[in-house]
Amino acid sequence: MTFEPTPAFAAHLDAHDPLHAFRARFLIPPAPDGQDSLYFCGNSLGLQPKAARAALEQEMATWEQLAVEGHFTGDSPWLHYHEAMSAAEAAVVGALPLEVIVMNNLTTNLHLLLISFYRPTATRYKVLMEGGAFPSDQYALESQVRLHDYAPDDAIVELVPRPGEHTLRTADIEAKIAELGDSLATVIMGGINYYTGQVFDMAAITRAGHAVGATVGFDLAHAAGNVVLKLHDWDVDFACWCTYKYLNSGPGGVGGAFVHERFAHRPDLVRLAGWWGHDEDERFQMRKGFKPMAGAAGWQLANTNIVSMAVHQAALAVFTEAGGIETLRRKSEQLTAYLEFLLNRLQLPKTTLEIITPTDPAQRGCQLSLLVHKGGRTLFDHLTQAGVIGDWREPNVIRLAPVPLYNTFADVQHVGEILAAWAEEQK
Ligand SMILES: Cc1ncc(COP(=O)(O)O)c(C=O)c1O
Repeated sequence: MTFEPTPAFAAHLDAHDPLHAFRARFLIPPAPDGQDSLYFCGNSLGLQPKAARAALEQEMATWEQLAVEGHFTGDSPWLHYHEAMSAAEAAVVGALPLEVIVMNNLTTNLHLLLISFYRPTATRYKVLMEGGAFPSDQYALESQVRLHDYAPDDAIVELVPRPGEHTLRTADIEAKIAELGDSLATVIMGGINYYTGQVFDMAAITRAGHAVGATVGFDLAHAAGNVVLKLHDWDVDFACWCTYKYLNSGPGGVGGAFVHERFAHRPDLVRLAGWWGHDEDERFQMRKGFKPMAGAAGWQLANTNIVSMAVHQAALAVFTEAGGIETLRRKSEQLTAYLEFLLNRLQLPKTTLEIITPTDPAQRGCQLSLLVHKGGRTLFDHLTQAGVIGDWREPNVIRLAPVPLYNTFADVQHVGEILAAWAEEQK
């Protein structure tokens, strides 16, 4: 498609956007001038679906009216609450319902999964990660490696882009995996790197990891609800994600976990156990001896945080109603390409500003990361004052994420105008 930078062109695209009505299902925070802000920060925290408050109030009413009986009676008994959303959650990540569970938070789930899937031995104890992974993942891996009495500097291998490049090449990842060979216990990478916005080739990485006998897992914080995932078909061993970014389920909202069907009936797998992962039919018999539920549900520890789950369920319902990830992705590719077009029109030298996110739509989600070599903080403040909510990542990256569920082409066009005014001042 050929883009034009005008408000009329953006209005035309919005008028033909089948998802346009979904914007009205969200609460948009006001800008300093009282108008709707230009919210480009769904990569950090998704907006509040209007349905979330009613979902919360419903559970508060159940608690008020039924109290402890709410676990077993009412419209959605708390004991089985998660089951109602497993099909929708599974569709988001390309999994079977048995393979996913909504529980805890991302970092907690990462630890629980590593306990089962990082099983180092004297000769096979290395972990491969992308260099500059999200700090929580780095800390999780350091502590897991120490838990098994290995030294992080020795056991953790970090892959960095070639000199002069910002993103990793799949061939380099595959080559490193092959080189580590029998010493490699686990590969753990982001599905999308939080800083550059690069989507990794999860199918190829999984194949390469399995070829040398390693387990392979992904942190999907920036991928779930943003790009099409096929965890089951790609044969990924394990994965975890949060729901407060592209799944709009509120700050600190409940996380998700995936364990491949191959492990669904493996009670022998080492894991940290709790009563909520115990066979549901016997859970309240209060007997000795842990017997895990089949599938990812067998990794649950504690009883469900219904307040957080209620919001997630409401948010997931909007996501599903919009047609799910395949439909959203079609708009997302256009929306991000439009932002890229407007950024390229600024014609700034690479020594001032460069987009470090790949240009290939298959290698990125909705986010574009702008590396601003000169005056990055000033540009970020300029955007904020003009009502744009993006985010700043040290040392010099601005991340802008137009989200197909609630952002419009007019939002993108408007941000383009604000950037153009700034670029003029730089000349
Ligand atoms: C890539 C990535 N991993 C992990 C986390 C940590 O998530 P949580 O605080 O839910 O454990 C985040 C949070 O933004 C993230 O972006």
